[in-house]
Amino acid sequence: MADVKKYGVIGTGMMGREHIRNLALVPGAQLVAISDPHEPSLQAALDTSAKAAMGPVKAYTDYNAMLDQHSLDAIIIATPNHTHFDIAAELLDEDIALLVEKPLCTTVTEASQLVERVKTRNALFWTGLEYRYMPPVASFIDRIHEGEIGRLQMLSIREHRFPFLRKIGNWNRFSRNTGGTMVEKCCHFFDLMRLIVQSEPVRIYASGAMDVNHLDEQYDGDRPDIIDNAYAVVDFRNGVRANLDLCMFANGSEQQEEICAIGDTAKLEVAIPSGLVSYAPRVSMGQAKQVVRHHVETDPSALAAGYHHGATYYQLLAFQAALVNGAAPVVSALDGLRSVAMGAAAHQSIETGQAVDLDLS
Ligand SMILES: NC(=O)c1ccc[n+]([C@@H]2O[C@H](COP(=O)([O-])OP(=O)(O)OC[C@H]3O[C@@H](n4cnc5c(N)ncnc54)[C@H](O)[C@@H]3O)[C@@H](O)[C@H]2O)c1
Repeated sequence: MADVKKYGVIGTGMMGREHIRNLALVPGAQLVAISDPHEPSLQAALDTSAKAAMGPVKAYTDYNAMLDQHSLDAIIIATPNHTHFDIAAELLDEDIALLVEKPLCTTVTEASQLVERVKTRNALFWTGLEYRYMPPVASFIDRIHEGEIGRLQMLSIREHRFPFLRKIGNWNRFSRNTGGTMVEKCCHFFDLMRLIVQSEPVRIYASGAMDVNHLDEQYDGDRPDIIDNAYAVVDFRNGVRANLDLCMFANGSEQQEEICAIGDTAKLEVAIPSGLVSYAPRVSMGQAKQVVRHHVETDPSALAAGYHHGATYYQLLAFQAALVNGAAPVVSALDGLRSVAMGAAAHQSIETGQAVDLDLS
């Protein structure tokens, strides 16, 4: 019998409901309460939990009322980016494990403040940078760290996808709410870079703009200001160079994410959603190529429970294990801060046209 931990979810929009569907699959995770000021989100989440047969779940429009009524072991914060800081800062005083959705905050200043506060508490604090948990990506990372490509030299991450979806109140149309695309969306990829490269960035140059999407949209007379395409080049302290290629008007792209690592003895690539990992050792000039392709399976129920190739499920499994075992977070507040700092530096570079030096140590 698994240790049972009681969960609450704050923010039950698209991502909060993805967490709810996945909590239903995690042994020992019991959803007891949810909170959202937007009644349709709350009702949709109640429907989701009923469909998943999760037992009685209480709904609140105010998360403080939820806290007053329940003794929770863990809370998932899945509210809009610009609300993470205030909500997390308030909850840090409680002895409750927290999983805060990415990006940790919209600014480096706020994220740094949370990191300092987290140092003084015992309960688990986890940043929801979950792409490392997609099984094909996890396998790809393990193989690099096990030395299959020799010494990693170059890392390239490409996301070619559809535009930002509509959100409750259109919060994601404005950089003041999201932190900007390089923070909001690309914190995932900067986190992956740091994890794969096992070093910290020292310099970023980026170029990007809002060229295609949202050009005709207006909200209360305000025009969106969110970048829809960018390149970023990142130099790491250990000499590895990485690049990010983001396009958010590539709706028909066969693969959404492609990551390619090249070492001094081989090249390894992974693609999502195909789940294909390709290994290509270096061969001598004139020698036949020796490409080995391997398909990495993802649990079909995890695939069906979300939009992130199973990442939410495997992340929650790891979070629950850390909660039960009293272990340290796999993705810490500091990881959250550093991914935000890289995104903010990329925005600075886009605005100034200059490379930005970073010191994240
Ligand atoms: N890990 C991932 O890959 C991933 C994917 C999508 C979204 N996200 C993140 O999840 C978060 C939510 O995004 P979403 O797509 O679900 O947005 P959404 O607009 O669909 O839902 C956000 C919900 O939060 C609610 N909310 C706002 N203020 C609140 C408050 N003070 N207390 C409680 N609820 C409040 C809104 O009413 C809404 O229902 C964002 O931070 C986003 O960046 C992460």
